[in-house]
Amino acid sequence: MGKFAVLRDSAGLTQILLRDENSEMSKLLNHTPFESYVEVKGVVQQRPEDQYNKDMPTGEIEVLADNYKILSEVQRDLPFIIRSYNKPKENLRLRYRYLDLRHEELQRNLKLRSMVGKKMRDYLQDIEDFVEIVTPTLSVNTPGGAQEFVVPSRHPGKFYSLVQSPQTYKQLAMIGGFERYFQFAICYRDEGGKPDRQPEFMQVDLEVANVTMEEIQRLIENLLVHSWPEHLSPVKSPFPIISYQEAMSKYGVDKPDTRFDWKLEDVSDVICQCGAAVLENGLLAEGSSAHAFLIPDGQSAVGKKIISSWEALAKREFSMNGPSVMYIKDNYELQGKLAKFMKLPSQRSLIETLSGQKGDVVVMAVGPTNSTLSLLGKLRILAADVLEEAGRNVRNTSTFNFLWVVDFPLFEFDDQLGKIVSLHHPFTLPKEGDSHLLYTEPLKAKSQHYDLVLNGSEIGGGSIRVHDPVMQRYIVEDILNLDAHTLDFFSEALASGAPPHGGIALGFDRLMEKICGGKSIRDVIAFPKSLEGRCLMSGAPGKITKDEEQLYHISVKDK
Ligand code: AMO
Repeated sequence: MGKFAVLRDSAGLTQILLRDENSEMSKLLNHTPFESYVEVKGVVQQRPEDQYNKDMPTGEIEVLADNYKILSEVQRDLPFIIRSYNKPKENLRLRYRYLDLRHEELQRNLKLRSMVGKKMRDYLQDIEDFVEIVTPTLSVNTPGGAQEFVVPSRHPGKFYSLVQSPQTYKQLAMIGGFERYFQFAICYRDEGGKPDRQPEFMQVDLEVANVTMEEIQRLIENLLVHSWPEHLSPVKSPFPIISYQEAMSKYGVDKPDTRFDWKLEDVSDVICQCGAAVLENGLLAEGSSAHAFLIPDGQSAVGKKIISSWEALAKREFSMNGPSVMYIKDNYELQGKLAKFMKLPSQRSLIETLSGQKGDVVVMAVGPTNSTLSLLGKLRILAADVLEEAGRNVRNTSTFNFLWVVDFPLFEFDDQLGKIVSLHHPFTLPKEGDSHLLYTEPLKAKSQHYDLVLNGSEIGGGSIRVHDPVMQRYIVEDILNLDAHTLDFFSEALASGAPPHGGIALGFDRLMEKICGGKSIRDVIAFPKSLEGRCLMSGAPGKITKDEEQLYHISVKDK
C-alpha cells in the first residue's frame, strides 16, 4: 500500500501517491502540517479505473512522487481549515483573508473577475476604439454627491478629497479631445455599510463625445454580451426599457427584480368604501393611495412572526401603520386583522383585482403614495426571501434579467435638508423638451439619465451631460444652491469648446457578484472592508503618530 495525499495549488486539487509507505518521504509527509507549501516531483499516471474520483476534475490521474520537499512549513495553529463546507463566520475570514482566499470559491470568483475584466478591456480598446486614461484619485470636493473621504495635506487647512467617481475628470477628457474614454476606476465613498456597498469599489467608467442615450445603451449591451462568461446562460439584448414611474408603480423600487411577477396594484378604488374605517381613513389625505400585491400560495410560509417583522419595518422606515396582510380562504373571503371589518363585496373585489386564488396572501399598504409603494417594494423582496427560505422557487438563480430604467426626475426635494437635490448628480442634462422647466418648475423636469438594473440590483448608471457652462452654473448655484467655487475650473473648461457628451459607469463589483452568484460584493473583492468600513486584517483605519499629526496640522480630540 502506498501513501496518498491531496495537493492544492492555484489550478486545483491533485492526488499524489508515494509508493513506499515506510520511506523517509512518507514519514516527512506524515509530519507535514496542513497548508504547508510543498514541492512534489514525479510522474503523472492514470489511476486504476476503480479508483477514479468523479468529483475531482483531476480524478482520473495521480502523480507518482519520486521527490517530496517542504518549502515552507506552517509554524502556527491556523484559525480555520480550508474547506468548502462549515466555513467560519465572515469576520474571522476577513481577519485572515489571505487564508480565506485559498478557498476554492474565492479563487474561482477572482479568476472570473480577472477574465471578465480582460474581455471588457479588449472589447472597449480593440473593437470600440476607446482609450484607457487614468485619472487622479486625490482631488477636491465635488459638490452635490456622496460623502467623500478627506485626506489631510501638508498645506495648513487644506484637504484633498478622494474621488467618489472620475465624473468631472472623464468630462474633462472629452473637452481634452479624447472622444472615447474608459477606465477601471477605484472610487471612494463614505457611505453606510450595506451588502452591496464598499467604501472603495471599482467602476467600469466610460464617456463618449457626441453620443445619444441609445448609443450608450447599445454599447453597454454589446460590451456585456462580448465579455459574458460562456458557462452562464447568455445575455439577451437589447435589454427592456422601463420608465422610473412604471418601475415605482409596478415594483415599488427603481431597480426592479423582474425575475418574478408579484406586481403592485393600485387598489384605492376598492378600499375607499370597503367598510374598514382604518383603511378608508388612510386614504383621506391628499396624495394617499392603497396598493397591494399577492404572494401566490404563500399562506403556509407567511406566519404571525413574519407579519410582525414587516409591521416593525413599516413603522421604523416609513412611520406607517400596516401593512395589512390577509389570507385568501377557501370560500374566497379574506382573513386577517382588518379583513373582518371589510364588507364581503369589497373583499371579493380586492381578490378579483389582484387575480387571487385560495391560499394566496394579500399584502396591502394604505397611506402617502410614495411611502406605500416603497414599503411594498421592500416587502415584495422580503416575501420572496421568506418563500425561498421555505424551500420554494421564486427567483431563478441562473437567469440574468437586465433592464434599463429611464425618465428619472432630474431633482427631488430633500425634506431633511429642506432643499432641492439632484437625483443622481448635477452634471445630468434635462430630457429633451424639459430644459425650460429648469427655470420655472425644476422638480417637474425629467433627466437624460439611465440606470442599468440586473436582477434587482443597480449595476450601472449614466447620463447625457450638460455641456453648456451657463446651464451648468445655473443648476449648481441657483437650483441646488451649492457652493460652486470648487467647480470654477470645470465651468471654465466647459466654456472652452466642450463637445456634447455622455457616459456611464458600471459597478464592477456588483456586476461580478451577480455573475459569480455571491451573497455580497465582498465575495468578489480580494481584500474588502467589513460592513463598518474597517479592514479587519490590517486594522485600518488606524492611528497616526504625533509627528504625523504635526506634519498634517491635525489635532486629535480624545473620545
Ligand atoms: P453612480 O453613483 O450611479 O454613478 O455609480 C455607478 C455604479 O457604481 C456602483 N456603486 C457602488 N458599488 C459598490 N459600492 C458602492 N459604495 C457603490 N456606489 C455605487 C453601482 C452604481 O450603479 N459618475 C457616475 C456615473 C456616470 O454618470 O457616468 C456615478 O458614479 O453599481
